[in-house]
Amino acid sequence: MADRRMADRRDWTIEAVKRIEADINRSSDTHLLRHEVEGLPGIVFYFKDESTHPTGSLKHRLARSLFLFAICNGWITEGTAVVEASSGSTAVSEAYFAKLLGLPFHAVMPDETSSEKIAAIEFYGGQCHFVGDPMEIYVASRRLAEELGGHYLDQFTFAERATDWRGNNNIAESIFHQMAQEPHPVPEWIIMGAGTGGTSATIGRYIRFRHFDTRLCVVDTTNSVFYDNYTQGCRDLTIAKGSLIEGIGRPRVEPSFIPGVVDRMIKVPDAASLAAMHVLAKRLGRCPGGSTGTNFYGMCQIAAEMRARHTGGSLVTLICDAGERYRQTYFNDAWLAAQRLDIAPYAEQLTHFLACGEWCRPAL
Ligand SMILES: Cc1ncc(COP(=O)(O)O)c(C=O)c1O
Repeated sequence: MADRRMADRRDWTIEAVKRIEADINRSSDTHLLRHEVEGLPGIVFYFKDESTHPTGSLKHRLARSLFLFAICNGWITEGTAVVEASSGSTAVSEAYFAKLLGLPFHAVMPDETSSEKIAAIEFYGGQCHFVGDPMEIYVASRRLAEELGGHYLDQFTFAERATDWRGNNNIAESIFHQMAQEPHPVPEWIIMGAGTGGTSATIGRYIRFRHFDTRLCVVDTTNSVFYDNYTQGCRDLTIAKGSLIEGIGRPRVEPSFIPGVVDRMIKVPDAASLAAMHVLAKRLGRCPGGSTGTNFYGMCQIAAEMRARHTGGSLVTLICDAGERYRQTYFNDAWLAAQRLDIAPYAEQLTHFLACGEWCRPAL
């Protein structure tokens, strides 16, 4: 009887892996957009557009890796209720994979998660649970998984190890492959925010593993402890307030954040992130999300430093998700005013910089 059960379990596992492989086989890679800037001759910007995944964000990659990791470890099997702590994007992608595998899915998220993300999770059949304090999502997720007899995916712990950082067309390998025929194929810098820290860990490890000269800059938000962890070395830091930039910035140093693979960090004020998001939206002709704004602000700051040193080359960052998810918030003037965020000085700073290459202090 026990043998029969083990055999059924194994059949389910093999079938689940095959379903995910077939999904990969139906997918295509995301585009690397080239963007030249009139005020920055000799410097070329590239944007890896992760918003084009079927579930709209870079988290599609992570969700797939987390499910494969948990399935192959025997943590998820037929009928397992899957639970995740998320600021929303990961849960959207995980709800998609849970549906693909016929598994119940539960997302535990902060109260302020955008209504568009909640709708997307529900669209794939997921259930949403909310907590007031962003630090509560971990305990609440673990508790819910125990109550349901299910599995807590725990992206914040497992993101860095569930991803194949040496290759297998991970995001870093894809970037370097797509850069191969550009005038400066090895980027000076790759700029990326950290939520779990999984993407920056993959990129930083891959750069070192393949001995590229590229450096990795991680940009951090106002309400987040990653920057202080990087500069001070202490991992026990916490703050009470959640990040305003959904997907990045955390109230604790997440286990998947690996500071040893990061060459530099830049702390970006929230108003600067959202100004950069608006400026980039005009330049691209379509709207990115807030964490892409943080990336873009860091990219411009690095470009300003390169210009001051009279050096050129390529800079790469990610479009993490699209702005449609933030119509009621980041793209809503009333919401910005209610948050007391004045993005105009940073928008002027960036617009001027991109037009003539002069990096002035924002007139705050
Ligand atoms: C929109 C968005 N941008 C960036 C990130 C950061 O990615 P990572 O978790 O790999 O650090 C996330 C993570 O949730 C996200 O949702």
